[in-house]
Amino acid sequence: MSIQAAKRTQHIRYAVRDIILIADEARRRGRDLLYLNIGDPNPYQFRTPEHILEATIKAMRDNLNGYSPSSGIPEAVAAIRRDAERRGLKNIQDVFIGTGASETIEIALSALVDRGDNVLLPFPGYPLYTALTAKLECEGRPYFLDEANGWQPDLADMAARIDEHTRAIVLINPNNPTGGVWSRETLLQIIELCRQHNLVLLSDEIYDRLIYNGQEHVPTASLADDICILTFNGLSKNWVAPGFRLGWCIVSGPDKLIKDYLEAMLKLTRARLCANHPEQHAIRVALEGDQSHIQSMNEILKRRAELAGRMLNQVEGMSLIPPGGAFYAYPSLYIEGDDSDFVRQLILDTGVVVVPGSGFGQRPGTSHFRLVTLPDDETLRKAFERIGNFVTAWRAR
Ligand SMILES: Cc1ncc(COP(=O)(O)O)c(C=O)c1O
Repeated sequence: MSIQAAKRTQHIRYAVRDIILIADEARRRGRDLLYLNIGDPNPYQFRTPEHILEATIKAMRDNLNGYSPSSGIPEAVAAIRRDAERRGLKNIQDVFIGTGASETIEIALSALVDRGDNVLLPFPGYPLYTALTAKLECEGRPYFLDEANGWQPDLADMAARIDEHTRAIVLINPNNPTGGVWSRETLLQIIELCRQHNLVLLSDEIYDRLIYNGQEHVPTASLADDICILTFNGLSKNWVAPGFRLGWCIVSGPDKLIKDYLEAMLKLTRARLCANHPEQHAIRVALEGDQSHIQSMNEILKRRAELAGRMLNQVEGMSLIPPGGAFYAYPSLYIEGDDSDFVRQLILDTGVVVVPGSGFGQRPGTSHFRLVTLPDDETLRKAFERIGNFVTAWRAR
């Protein structure tokens, strides 16, 4: 008799990694694989900046390899706060560092929701949030992003989904998987909804410096000082070090409003001791040292976003709103059948590995897939050609 797994794990999916099984099958069939599925810059030859490596190695050599304070080392916490203040975040009450932004998001939700509560999640959005709400046995309730409006949220849809059990709204700006950057007006309207319904606003800004369409990134917590806003960021994307597993949460809002909630979050940080310690010594230099790698990444990502737009929009049966930030593109497919079947066959027949839109949530009746714009231009060109031919063949079946 086998050991029964907890029921709460039954609905947890993580399409980005699940797709690897199909890619392995394609490799066994002898396909030349082009990986456009991993939101990780390092395997695609982007490098962690040297000064960030130096600071980490020095900390390790200095034997700073014990536990750190649960919220993080004071030097890093102070640097995160300074950076946030420079960017205009208001009413900052606290900062805590975790094992990736992922852990800080898990702490924030675990300290907030009980069974029966619901949290509004962007569809499409990063699948961690649906995995966490499943694990916490609360409802991850979708609100839809509007493709026709540059992937801005449909605010009427969002408002209609709030009820007396809603505790929070999650937003991801710039968004994974769409690459959409949200306007100040949109953010102000979401803030107003949180104000009216006493909701916590979880603002995932992990791609906030990777913006290349001339749009301005507005930190959500720079727009209000009277509601509870949690801003998530970390070393993974902007500073090209996802394997360091270091992220942080900046807690903003009036002291009286957030006191109990903040204490619950800090209790959870204490219960797991601390995040990776030596790497925390790189946070100050990451935030305050040379930022030139960000500019060069943005130049490359802009060129590739344009390439994706040019090549994919030529294909009958596809359309793409080119991303303005982050390193993803999320084309729409006008095909019979669902996008999981499409992507499975795409990988098996062409070797191009992407992730189906159903892994990120989408409006019923629509089909998409996500690709990353991290591979070099030549690989992307080759992949876009194979995708175009495959879509044409699929539609002619
Ligand atoms: C929107 C978003 N939030 C959070 C994360 C996870 O970040 P971390 O590596 O800091 O845990 C990712 C990773 O892809 C992401 O896309």
